[in-house]
Amino acid sequence: MGSVSVGSGKSLILLYDTIRWEEKSLIEAAKKKGIETQNVDVKNLTIRLDDGDKYADRVVLQRSVSYFKSLHATAALEGLGASVINPLRVASITGNKLFAHMEFKKAGVKTPKAITAFSEESALAALEEFGYPAVIKPTVGSWGRMIGLLRERDAARAVVEDREHMFPLYHIYYFEEFVKRPPRDIRAIVVGDSVVAAIYRYSGDGEWKTNMALGGHAEMCGVTKELEDICIKATRAVGGQIVGVDLMESEADGLLVHEVNNTTEFKNTVRVTGVDIPGQMIDYALTFSKR
Ligand SMILES: Nc1ncnc2c1ncn2[C@@H]1O[C@H](COP(=O)(O)OP(=O)(O)O)[C@@H](O)[C@H]1O
Ligand SMILES: [Mg+2]
Repeated sequence: MGSVSVGSGKSLILLYDTIRWEEKSLIEAAKKKGIETQNVDVKNLTIRLDDGDKYADRVVLQRSVSYFKSLHATAALEGLGASVINPLRVASITGNKLFAHMEFKKAGVKTPKAITAFSEESALAALEEFGYPAVIKPTVGSWGRMIGLLRERDAARAVVEDREHMFPLYHIYYFEEFVKRPPRDIRAIVVGDSVVAAIYRYSGDGEWKTNMALGGHAEMCGVTKELEDICIKATRAVGGQIVGVDLMESEADGLLVHEVNNTTEFKNTVRVTGVDIPGQMIDYALTFSKR
C-alpha cells in the first residue's frame, strides 16, 4: 500500500497500527452518529513536517498501540495544528512511569512510593535503602511486560544484571514499593471530565499482576465519589482527555494510582459494564471539531 496523507478528507481521523475491537467499535460508534472517520494506518503514513498549520481543522484519535510510533506521529500532527487526543504532553508523560510518578506527586495524587537509579551498582544500593519486596518496572512499557517482583537481594541482583545487557532504556532503574492489596486492581475510563465506567481486574492463576493480557478477569466496579475524585485528579495531573486510570486498593494507604494509560483498551470495560464508551469517546472528540 502506498503512503497516506491526512491532508484531505474527513475531519475525524482515527490513527491506528492494528485494528482491534476498540478501533472497530470507535469506527462503528462514529458511523451511528452519521460520521465517517478517516482511518489511517500509521505504518502507511508520511507527514511533511514543514506544512504550516495544514492539519489545523483535524481531530485525531490517536489509537496506535506502538508507543514510539504513537508519540512521534502525535508530535508531527499536533505540530501541524491538529487536535490530537491525547496531546503530545500527555503521551510523553503517561508513556513513562517515572515522568508520570513525578506529575502525580506534584498534583497530590496518591501513588506507590518509588525510587530510581542509573547504574547496576546504584540500583542495588537503592533497593537496600528502599527495602524488599520491590517491583521493578521499565519506565516505558505496557501489558505488565518486564515488570518483576523482587522479593530479596539475590533475585534483584540477577534481574538488574540482565537489564545491563539490554537496550539503554532498561538501564534506567525504576522501582516501586510492592503494594499490599487484594488480588485485583481497578481500571477506570475517563472521558473529558467524567469517569464513564470502571472495572476490577483480578489476576489470573499464579499471577500477581492484574493485566487482562496476562489472563486476568474483569468484574464490575461501582464509581464512588472517592474513585471519581482521584481519577479526575490523576487525569488532570497529566493533562489527559481520554485515558484509562489504573488504581490499587492499598491496605495501608487506600486508593493509589499506579498508571494513566494514553491509548487505553476498553473492550472488557464495555463488556462488563455495558456502558457505551466508544460512543462517549466519539462525542467528546467531536467537541474539538472546527468543521
Ligand atoms: N507497586 C505495585 N505493587 C503491587 N502490584 C503492582 C504494583 N505496580 C503494578 N502492579 C501490578 O502490575 C500490573 C502492571 O503494572 P502497571 O504499572 O500498570 O504496568 P503496565 O503499563 O505494564 O500495565 C498492575 O496492573 C498491578 O496489578
Ligand atoms: Mg497497567
